[in-house]
Amino acid sequence: MSRGDSLERMSSTLASAPVTLGAATSADAIALAYASDGESGFVFKGPGTIIEDIQSHFGIDLLDELSFFSPSGKTGEVFEIPVSAIDSTTERIYLTAIGDATTPSLRLAGAAIARKVRGKKTTLYSACAVNKYDIGAHAISLTMGAYLWSLKSEKLSESPNFLVASDDKEIVSTALIFAKAIALARDLVHTPSNIKTPAWLATQAQDLAKSNGLKVKVLSGRDLKEFGGLRAVGGSSPKPGPRFIEVSYAPKNRKKAVGVLPHVVLVGKGITFDTGGVSLKRPYDSMIAMKSDMAGAAAILATLTAIEKLQPNVRVTALMMCAENAISATAQRPSDVIKHYGGTTVEVINTDAEGRLVLADGLAYADINLDPDYLIDIATLTGSATLGLGRQFAAMYTRDDTLAAQFEIAGTHSGDRVWRMPLINDYKDSLRSDVADFNHAAEKANYSAGSVTAALFLEHFAGNRRWLHLDIAGTGRSEVDAGENPKGGTGYGVRLLTSWILSLK
Ligand code: BES
Ligand code: MN
Ligand code: ZN
Repeated sequence: MSRGDSLERMSSTLASAPVTLGAATSADAIALAYASDGESGFVFKGPGTIIEDIQSHFGIDLLDELSFFSPSGKTGEVFEIPVSAIDSTTERIYLTAIGDATTPSLRLAGAAIARKVRGKKTTLYSACAVNKYDIGAHAISLTMGAYLWSLKSEKLSESPNFLVASDDKEIVSTALIFAKAIALARDLVHTPSNIKTPAWLATQAQDLAKSNGLKVKVLSGRDLKEFGGLRAVGGSSPKPGPRFIEVSYAPKNRKKAVGVLPHVVLVGKGITFDTGGVSLKRPYDSMIAMKSDMAGAAAILATLTAIEKLQPNVRVTALMMCAENAISATAQRPSDVIKHYGGTTVEVINTDAEGRLVLADGLAYADINLDPDYLIDIATLTGSATLGLGRQFAAMYTRDDTLAAQFEIAGTHSGDRVWRMPLINDYKDSLRSDVADFNHAAEKANYSAGSVTAALFLEHFAGNRRWLHLDIAGTGRSEVDAGENPKGGTGYGVRLLTSWILSLK
């Protein structure tokens, strides 16, 4: 089976359309936004005179129509009114609540409207967003809400085409670049692990690099000699074994020499399936979600495809640390001691804490070989991160206040939100081992703070670099089909990392 070939696999399309009645009424459906106005009233909001034009064209009073439904005004509420008029294709108008009319509300409204046309061959003209930034955010969320993924042999669904009312073509074409990258990350996460081996991920990266002008280097087998963490985890699955995938971007038309551009290195956890290894996951049904344990690696690969199209003046290298954490006769054992890239020795306590082992090699490799100005890792690392923050915010760790502030802004700005967590020095004791430089996982009974102790472990391998760690165990996957997300991979991190990198140039 090959779901390989191109980024064009995002099925819904997205384009800008002029803010004119003609453009609106040539679509099958039109989405319009209403917001609360004072005590109990509502007001329709749209660019230019589109609201008035549509009312007179169809001979309707939108507020009257709305009151028929007894609306609550809660963001994402959608009502459908059938319409018809001579000279127009339009059959439906979707009335959509945008609550307080903020950017996050326009995102949710976009996803809610898109769900109405998901799987249908409908052309939808959305005139919900007015200002430039909201138009981009709303456009991305339309495609997020329309996302469908399946390996059903019978093709049952079609794909909607979105037209976003805007005269700013660039904002919508940038949104499309984001949308495709998010869909790519989601596709990779949704792909089941019998298909998605580390070698398969390497092929995906190579194919994407070819069509996108990125460079890619893949290490496997003997070439991974020094990557003790990657081998210890990936050795459990003899064929095809672990892969180190390095994807790099440099701008095409450089004004400055490559050496002086800021260098961002992204390290992603790419565990293609996490059984827990010998320390088997319990309860067993918690394992089903573990095909998503490569969401970090998917996010950085997808980010690079977007970055390549947007050509910012920075260098970016993505290190995808790919292995399966299987249970087999060649699996590592609790009490094994391994040697990481760069020489640090680590006593393995619980083979289910495999993510930090593969990330440690990646961080050390970056520190030793790549001279990064920024070293960022992203991983579905600990269940504890989800306990603390739920599924809407990623846990962010860094000692660098400036970098933390940049990510907080990029998070709010992009919709992929983060919450800064403390690197608590007192808990470093938990990483002491009697027989190795470090013990790789804290005893739960003594420390509890699983996401914090995991971050402290990783910090050692980042050397003195400007380092930031994102624990996306909660945000990388959604257990429900709601808001912007389908059940399964969310594509979390693509908007965050891409927005942050663009802010550096
Ligand atoms: N991949 C899991 C973390 C995870 C859990 C991600 C739930 C998404 C949803 C990770 O490899 C893991 O098993 N972590 C352990 C660490 C523990 C053994 C120290 C955990 O969180 O329990
Ligand atoms: Mn695990
Ligand atoms: Zn894992």
